Formats: sequence, structure tokens, C-alpha cells
Amino acid sequence: MPNKASELLDWYDRHARVMPWRVAPADKKDGVVANPYHVWMSEVMLQQTTVAAVRAYFLKFIDLWPTVSDLAAAEDADVMAAWAGLGYYARARNLLKCARAIAADHDGVFPDTYDGLIALPGIGPYTAAAISSIAFDRPETVLDGNVERVMARIHDVHTPLPAAKPELMSLAEALTPTQRPGDYAQAVMDLGATICTPRNPACGICPWREGCKARRAGTAPDLPKKTPKKPKPTRHGIAYVARRADGAWLLETRPEKGLLGGMLGWPGSEWGGDPVAAPPMAANWQLMDGEARHTFTHFHLILTVQTAWVDHKTNPDRGSFMPAPEFRPTDLPTVMRKVFDLAEATLRHD
Ligand code: ADE
Repeated sequence: MPNKASELLDWYDRHARVMPWRVAPADKKDGVVANPYHVWMSEVMLQQTTVAAVRAYFLKFIDLWPTVSDLAAAEDADVMAAWAGLGYYARARNLLKCARAIAADHDGVFPDTYDGLIALPGIGPYTAAAISSIAFDRPETVLDGNVERVMARIHDVHTPLPAAKPELMSLAEALTPTQRPGDYAQAVMDLGATICTPRNPACGICPWREGCKARRAGTAPDLPKKTPKKPKPTRHGIAYVARRADGAWLLETRPEKGLLGGMLGWPGSEWGGDPVAAPPMAANWQLMDGEARHTFTHFHLILTVQTAWVDHKTNPDRGSFMPAPEFRPTDLPTVMRKVFDLAEATLRHD
């Protein structure tokens, strides 16, 4: 009688998704394990967004910085620019901090245990478990949203998230095998992403369909239950986009602490109820039609956009001019990119 883990591993051997950071089960025969630098990078990125969106960012990062020591030696601004568009910019700063700790304190070699990994800056329980299981085949339990959903369903747990997390963690721990724990961790995540999906789970083709309690009870599509979130407030602000006759753009690097910390952006007002004008220099500011709207974790933001052509004689009170050939709109975080997309038409330069 096969146990639950081996049923899932058999399925994974046939259906594992192909990902650039992953070593396919068939390629592991000669003791090849995944590269911990690749696993770490991909897992940090996957906390932001989908596998499809992460692929290009991952390939860009390992092309620019092939090893953790290369990343440790990178300029902060280059790493922040490469991360632009992924969101949660504190993660990019933590990524660098962690790379530098591994370079300085561990000779550029990743620790191979959960305890060694969690002691590093920016590595939390999820990432420590993911790296130690996927890269080093240690029997640690990885609990992300996919795994929570799979556990809630196979055990028919109706306690709502996030209160259910400890219960789902112990159920997940009880199933974690000592044989191939790294493939198993990835298999549960793949199952959640491809079969045990939030809506319309494909129970008919699920390798765990026989023992699944929610399937028997008919509750699978309703699980996991979630405690309703508070609605997000809306904040307002003003962004200022100035351009000089030579094509240079007035930009600033945001303070390290706080939202979008360390990222490039347009100078602006505080974000709050009723924004107070805060132009970065005296100029003939023009209000643009339209607004840039963006949603952060805890609030919606609506920015009005002011633009101005400025001369060489006046120095800005805030920010500095970046010559046109150095400015890449793709280096901006998404909300600042939306501002640029609005402003650009009136500040085109022939
Ligand atoms: N989602 C996050 N990490 C993953 C992984 N290693 N495999 C599959 N899906 C994932």
C-alpha cells in the first residue's frame, strides 16, 4: 500500500512543472541537487508573484549576477533597478543584505540547514524551509498558500485563515517524508498550483483524490475559509515630473526606510487625505488629465501628475537630474512607471 507522499511523488515524476531554477526529478539521479542560490532567488521572487512573472526576473538576475558573491558585490541601485516591477522593494534590499552576509560570513557558500539559513538577514521560516528541503533535501515542511489550500482540503479543515495556519502546519509536517523531501515540497506546491486550484479544483485527476476528505464532503471549492480582510483605505498624492531642455529628468532615490525604499521615483507630496502641494522646484507646473492609480498591500493610491519643462538656471530643491540616456523607465517601481506613462506624452523630446 503506497503512502500518501509516495503517491504524490509518483505524480510529480510525471507532471513536475519545468522551471529554470528547478532540477527535474529525472535529472537528479546522479546526486545532482538544485543550486541553493537559484532556489533562494526564485523563492524570494515567488513570494511576490506568479511563476510566469518570475521567470524573466530570475533569468535576468542570474545573468547579471551568476553567483551569490557576484550579487553581494553589486551596486544597490543596479539591484533595485533590476527588481523594479516585482513589488515589495524591502525584499530586494533584504536580498542584497543576505547575499552580503553569505559572502562576508560564509565564504559565499549557503548554509545547508534550516537553522543556519534562518539566522541570515531576510530569510524567514518559509524561505529557510524551502531552501533546506529543495536545495539540500532536508525534511523541512514548506507551507505557502498552495500548501495551505491542499492541507485544508485533504483534511477538510474549516477553521478560517490566518487562524488555521498552525493547524495546517502540523498537518503538513505529519505528511512530510524523509525520502525526497525536496521533490515532495515542490510536488505539493505544484499540486496546489495546477490541480488543487482555488476555484474549480480538478479533483478527478488528483493523485490524492482517494483520501481527500473535502472531496468526499463536497466542500473542496469552499476551502480554505478566510477571515474577511478589512477594506483598504484610499490615499491621495501629487507627483511632479520635470524635464530639462537637454532631455534630463528630475528624479530622486527614495529614502531607504519606508515604502518603495531605495527605489527611483518622481518627487512628490506626502500621500494622505488631502495632499499638500510640494513642487521640487519653481516651474510652470501643469496638471495632467487623468491619474495614476496603484494598489499597495495596505492602501489604494491615487496620484495626480504635474509636469513642467524647466531651464538650466534653476536648481531643484529636491532630487537631481538624470541625463536622458541613463534613464530607463523599466528601472522605476510600477506606480512611478504609471506616472511616467501619463506624463511622457507632454514631455516628449524631438
Ligand atoms: N511556488 C513557490 N515556490 C515554488 C516551488 N519551488 N515549486 C512550485 N511552486 C512554487
